[in-house]
Amino acid sequence: MTKYQIRGGNQLHGTIEISGAKNAAVAIIPAALMVDGVCRIENVPQISDVTLILKILRELGANVQTVNRTTIDIDCSHIRNRQVPYELARKIRASYYLVGALLGRFGWAEVPLPGGCYLGGRPIDQHIKGFVAMGAEVDVRNGLIYAQVPGGGRPAGGQVYLDMVSVGATINIMLCAALANGMTVIENAAKEPHIVDLANFLNSMGADIMGAGTDVIKIRGVSRLRGGSYSVIPDQIEAGTYMAAVAAAGGEVLIKNVIPKHLDCITAKLVEMGVDVEELDDAVFVRRSGPLHRVNVKTMPYPGFPTDMQPQIAAVLCTAQGTSVLTESVWENRYRYVEEFRRMGARIQVDGKVAVIEGVDRLTGAPVQACDLRAGAAMVIAGLSAQGVTEISSIEHIERGYETLVEKLAGAGADIRVLSVPDKEVQPQVG
Ligand code: EPZ
Repeated sequence: MTKYQIRGGNQLHGTIEISGAKNAAVAIIPAALMVDGVCRIENVPQISDVTLILKILRELGANVQTVNRTTIDIDCSHIRNRQVPYELARKIRASYYLVGALLGRFGWAEVPLPGGCYLGGRPIDQHIKGFVAMGAEVDVRNGLIYAQVPGGGRPAGGQVYLDMVSVGATINIMLCAALANGMTVIENAAKEPHIVDLANFLNSMGADIMGAGTDVIKIRGVSRLRGGSYSVIPDQIEAGTYMAAVAAAGGEVLIKNVIPKHLDCITAKLVEMGVDVEELDDAVFVRRSGPLHRVNVKTMPYPGFPTDMQPQIAAVLCTAQGTSVLTESVWENRYRYVEEFRRMGARIQVDGKVAVIEGVDRLTGAPVQACDLRAGAAMVIAGLSAQGVTEISSIEHIERGYETLVEKLAGAGADIRVLSVPDKEVQPQVG
């Protein structure tokens, strides 16, 4: 077993380069399944969620070749298997994009229910509503999602109004609709940067998608998608995580390879807290030298403050002057990490979707656990600003979404390393 060990107190200085966006890559790779020909995908992050989704594609018969560290070629011209393996699908949320991709291309899909971080209930009713609107029959039983166009052939176009803004449903419906017979309209669509990135990828392969990035997306189905090359956008949340790390630890860091516009919602809160953020063409320069001020934060779909930055901003607010109020409005249960913060001396009370954080002068290092991906990133931020040593276990959650996190932070002066713990020292968890 491995852990991260952080000796807190070092300010961060230097440059951190941001990788390709996880949530764009895990949608674009399943989309390659719909393409007849070779897709060259650049700026692919080296994270375990990407490794998993590529493994699933290989199991289905895709030819995946590594061109260099961040570039892959995927050829799905000869898909021989359409049954997604359970052991792989259950480990990752994005495996459910294979329903949209397989249904769109072949009119038939059989995919195990997905995994991913536990954030409360994660229903898929809006995905199903979309597939049904496109003429498919969908059944969820025995842990599998079965979707099929009755009588064979591809889905038809359809009109879908999403009951809530859902990233996953918008992506899945867009995938399925790209090769459908006719026009599909998604209303109340999600507007996250990775929705636009997926639409740009599909359009560059010959799809006809308009309006991505607004709340109405129109997809005119085409008969075939052809190969081509595409570069994944930089990761908004990875960039935001390092911005929050500088805010918590102090110092000044140039965060490179970002789209500053995507960071506006995060920048605005950090500036309100007293952090200097300077936007450059494809970088942001973040500096924190003075005290942090309290703020209130409410998570919202894009362009609001991202729920995937909620635990990280909470880590910063733990040492801000005054009392901050955090409201989670996307997920029903995204405060499981609070118990871990309390071990480090944080003062946080949670009541339903609201967390009240009373800033303390200093957190203190402690053994803590990464209970999910972003909670794990938040533990790292808390450890950087804490006095003493923090050891974070269950780091496999963090490695699902952050490429070379230890190297990036150590390169900016953090005292962080990976510790190997012999298995016999690992105590079984009780309760
Ligand atoms: C995506 O999850 C991201 N995952 C999540 O990031 C992110 O937290 C979330 O979007 C919100 O931004 C990926 O892109 C792989 P949703 P997704 O469908 O698509 C409800 C991370 O840390 N809902 O937008 O699963 C749902 O319960 C991960 O990188 C339904 O009720 O999220 C939630 O309350 C964690 N029915 C809300 O909508 C549905 O059919 C938003 O969920 C679908 C969703």
